[in-house]
Amino acid sequence: MFLTTLASLALAIASASAIPYSIPTTDGFPFPNPTQLASIEHIAGGSLPGGALPTSLKAAGITTLQLLSINEQFEVAFFESLLQNITQNQRGYDLECLTPFTPGYVIETLEAVIAQEKLHAIGVNGILKSAGQKALSPCKYQFPVDTFQSAIALANTFTDIALSILPAAQSIFTTDGADEDGIVPILGSVIGQEGEQNGFYRLLRKKRPSSAPFLTLGSTDFAFTVVQQFLVPGSCPFEVSSIDLKTYGALTVLTTPQATNMDLHFEVSDNVNAGNNSVVYLSGQNLPFTVPIKHVRRDATSGKTYFTAWFPFEEAGFAEGLTFAAVVNGKSNFTSIDAVAAATVFGPGLIEVE
Ligand SMILES: *[C@@H]1O[C@H](CO)[C@@H](O)[C@H](O)[C@H]1NC(C)=O
Ligand SMILES: *[C@@H]1O[C@H](CO)[C@@H](O)[C@H](O)[C@H]1NC(C)=O
Ligand SMILES: *[C@@H]1O[C@H](CO)[C@@H](O)[C@H](O)[C@H]1NC(C)=O
Repeated sequence: MFLTTLASLALAIASASAIPYSIPTTDGFPFPNPTQLASIEHIAGGSLPGGALPTSLKAAGITTLQLLSINEQFEVAFFESLLQNITQNQRGYDLECLTPFTPGYVIETLEAVIAQEKLHAIGVNGILKSAGQKALSPCKYQFPVDTFQSAIALANTFTDIALSILPAAQSIFTTDGADEDGIVPILGSVIGQEGEQNGFYRLLRKKRPSSAPFLTLGSTDFAFTVVQQFLVPGSCPFEVSSIDLKTYGALTVLTTPQATNMDLHFEVSDNVNAGNNSVVYLSGQNLPFTVPIKHVRRDATSGKTYFTAWFPFEEAGFAEGLTFAAVVNGKSNFTSIDAVAAATVFGPGLIEVE
């Protein structure tokens, strides 16, 4: 079910079967008054960071915070929608079979997660404002899931993606230097927090809580491309295209991946060329790993291209959990994720292996 979800993410959303979802505004989110904020903090189990915020940011820092704001607000919307589906007894959202977790425990956990994600978003917007930038408001959202289990599988993957870019954000702020350094430990605390959440989503899916010793690093461009699939086009109160990140063509993984060396089949909506393109994997803290593209077949009617590439899971010491795939221009190995992102044409393909 989960793999179907991943493979059909782009397709399901293109068919726009989902009803556009808006975050309820009863608690003033994303701009609560002090009483509303205190109530969100109470449910979240703690308050916003107390230290001074930066009063200026460099361009890369602004872009990174804009991405984090969009991503955290999407997460708020997703978990609000999930909780609503559960409490309204929607078909597919029955919590009776989750032993040892009682429905009450799952609902209380989701309520805390929603409040925690709200504070992440409010915190990021607070930093943007303190540095003289515009805070971002929510969009309307669409989710390609309609059961509790598929929703938790998707939550597991988008939390993996959040965990892949928060360390990248730390690097960006460390490199920028000066006044922005204070953000680095705050982001560190959010990495741990999202990791706690992900352990729970994995448990609900009957996987061990921790996937691998070192989690997969990603690119902010990859995360920006993925999160846009959940935004109803034209529904954001800001120009999504004005965010200074790349959006790539979709790369769909057609094979159910296993924790072993194997061939994977892929699909893209345009042309690829085995002579000029290759597939790069990002997994754990390994260096990017480039493999050739094989068996390219273009379907003249649909314009789609199908191809195969080797997935060297054991050979390359890949991490369990999330691996990113990308179709890049060029055929050599890359030494940095930034170089991969700069060369990427289609991606990220999302590969979850246990
Ligand atoms: C909630 O249910 C609606 C209607 O079935 C569905 O479109 C949406 O994706 C669901 N949300 C989540 C997070 O599962
Ligand atoms: C690769 O790209 C170059 C430059 O764009 C082009 O001249 C060449 O024909 C391409 N190779 C193949 C195999 O298509
Ligand atoms: C990339 O590096 C790996 C590990 O050293 C190697 O096995 C692989 O063949 C390299 N790929 C290319 C295209 O050079």
